[in-house]
Amino acid sequence: MASGFSDVLIGLQYGDEGKARIIDTIAHEYDVIARFNGGSNAGHTIESNGKRISLHQVPSGIFHDDKILYIGSGCVVNPEKLMAEIAEISALGLSLAGRFHISSLATLVQPHHVLVDQMTGGHIGTTGQGIGPAYADRALRLRGTCLLHIRTGDLLSHPENTFKHVRENLEVTLKTMPGQQLDIEKTMQAFTTAALAMVQYIQDDTLFMPKLAAAGKRILFEGAQSFMLDVVKGSVPFVTSSATLAAAAYVGGDLPPKFHRKTIGVAKAIMSRVGNGPFVSEFGGVRSEEYCMADRSVNSRDVEKKLDVEKLLASADPFEVGKALRILGYEYGATTGRPRRVGSLDLVQLAYAARSNGVDELYLNKCDLLKDFARTAEGTIPLVTGYISDGHPIDYVPASVEIGRAIKPVTEGIACFTRDIAEARKPSDLPAELTAMLKRISASVCPVRGIGVGPAREQYVAFPEDSLKKTAA
Ligand code: IMP
Repeated sequence: MASGFSDVLIGLQYGDEGKARIIDTIAHEYDVIARFNGGSNAGHTIESNGKRISLHQVPSGIFHDDKILYIGSGCVVNPEKLMAEIAEISALGLSLAGRFHISSLATLVQPHHVLVDQMTGGHIGTTGQGIGPAYADRALRLRGTCLLHIRTGDLLSHPENTFKHVRENLEVTLKTMPGQQLDIEKTMQAFTTAALAMVQYIQDDTLFMPKLAAAGKRILFEGAQSFMLDVVKGSVPFVTSSATLAAAAYVGGDLPPKFHRKTIGVAKAIMSRVGNGPFVSEFGGVRSEEYCMADRSVNSRDVEKKLDVEKLLASADPFEVGKALRILGYEYGATTGRPRRVGSLDLVQLAYAARSNGVDELYLNKCDLLKDFARTAEGTIPLVTGYISDGHPIDYVPASVEIGRAIKPVTEGIACFTRDIAEARKPSDLPAELTAMLKRISASVCPVRGIGVGPAREQYVAFPEDSLKKTAA
């Protein structure tokens, strides 16, 4: 019998590394693109032929109409958000008919999950999409006789009973929130309509993925939220609520690990993080964290775009430099619109993530933005190349948030380029300074196989295997 294989692609930093655009670029090598974790908290933006879409639940790969798209049992699915996303996809003239499948074992995000997340997720800085409460109910299973964990397959087998449980969960939750004005009838009506519309995509064959692999299909698993936000391995509690590491693909993606071929990591040349939590290389440190988590009236894209970017960039204050880089890199959340905290590329963190996940090859996005460092006071690209913890060098990211916050980064300034590389399409189009930096990353982290030089599909430079030989420049 023919046998296919599966690769796993994950983000190696704190999310928003541009995973979707890399998937869009390499999708032609695969038959199936599958999600294995998370839900509508993910925000993956792709651009193609002038079309731009922010995906939240539907796997990337929608621009390739011959691909099978799959949402695995490790995901949490919000029917209303999903149907709205499908409407947006259809409006672009793209069809999901016959090729989009949701595991009948995936968990439903119910209205009370969203409510609880919005009431309680503030300190973590969650996306307010109900993700944590949905995973919590998945583990709790039952409250008395009321079903807390409801799966998409329940909509196929006993829809009326399912809606009864969803309503009961909402009513019980509302009793604990005096003063909450939510209209139960309206909420249930919207949920029911969307859930019934979603039924057509539910795949009740729980061997769907093993059958595809056995039939020779090439599968790409698409991670959401990224390694540093893993529910166990990340900076707990400032993390998401699912397993985001590469190995999780073989739990939440409904395929045995024997099909695994390679692990692909995606990072970006100027890092970002949304929500609270340690971020060693952040420009402006805790001040930036507090500013980005403050009210949108002070820090929204609309407020920041009125600032003088060149003045901020030339400032001696890293906090101001960070603001400039956020504006230039359009670092605002795709799901929440929040400003993202911005930091320099941290090679200790990147190598740690690559080793933890056994990453075989690396893609680095937003390399075009590195040229902006030429207009800073130092005029060099800052790279974090060492961590000092309690007076000693360490080569890992500590489990403790307190220790993580106390790390002193060792930062090196490397030569910057000034040329615009948005039109670069092959390695020889790149400035020597950037090639030297990529060689260094290939030697110290893992081989770089491609870089992004702009947001559009064609703004990409591929490196043939071994072209950035392990010789640090
Ligand atoms: P939650 O996943 O909504 O519970 O949020 C938990 C943390 O993960 C927060 O800091 C979020 O900002 C972060 N997070 C969740 N999804 C994403 C994503 O797709 N990109 C970046 N950060 C995310």
